[in-house]
Amino acid sequence: MTTGGTVLSPAALWLFVVKYTSKAKDGTRVVFREPRETDAVQLMNLINSVIDEPMSGLLMNKRTSLKDERKWLKHRIEDIKQRRTVMLVAEVDGRIMGNCDIVRRSAKESHRAVLGIVLLKEIRGKGIGEAIMVRAIELARKRFTGIEQIDLQTFSYNKRAQIVYRKVGFVKTGFVPRAIKEGSEYYGEDVMVLYL
Ligand SMILES: CC(C)(COP(=O)(O)OP(=O)(O)OC[C@H]1O[C@@H](n2cnc3c(N)ncnc32)[C@H](O)[C@@H]1OP(=O)(O)O)[C@@H](O)C(=O)NCCC(=O)NCCS
Repeated sequence: MTTGGTVLSPAALWLFVVKYTSKAKDGTRVVFREPRETDAVQLMNLINSVIDEPMSGLLMNKRTSLKDERKWLKHRIEDIKQRRTVMLVAEVDGRIMGNCDIVRRSAKESHRAVLGIVLLKEIRGKGIGEAIMVRAIELARKRFTGIEQIDLQTFSYNKRAQIVYRKVGFVKTGFVPRAIKEGSEYYGEDVMVLYL
């Protein structure tokens, strides 16, 4: 991007923080915006609350600490500035209730990125998952020059997630049996890809 003839570095482009407003199926007003370092406590509460759910759909199985969350968020924000990551949080009445990120791979995998998404229970099933993913994918297309595909893995029991991924255009390309173990139960993992 250029302004007044000056070519801006990726870090300078960060000044243009993205924010969208959206209405959920039930009329809830949701703001999708890029994160700030001050979001660490809210993001920690969000992830810990979902980690605590049985069959959460997440790979993480241990709650995170504020120290680790702050560190993670700092790196994420740096990666956003460097155009290696796209991340949007979902805010309802000023409270962060969801997060979607797309992380670009490197080297011979740099044509690929990986998508992750998590919403608090209270705001699921209202179309917010689909809406935030559409916005994040749109942003990744703009910011990741040369990106060709976004992929992810989803546990076979996570039917809701698979429905939403298919709605935004992901297709199933593979299956890993016994990919994860929760307690004494094994579950497979679907590999899904969105070709851009
Ligand atoms: C997966 C997740 C992001 C989906 O977001 P969401 O906002 O709940 O999804 P949406 O409301 O956009 O769409 C859900 C769709 O699944 C359907 N659905 C809802 N509950 C379902 C269930 N228990 N089983 C099957 N389908 C279900 C809905 O009918 C809806 O489809 P429709 O719009 O055609 O009616 C969200 O539920 C979540 O954060 N889950 C916990 C973490 C997680 O699983 N992350 C993904 C890891 S791969």
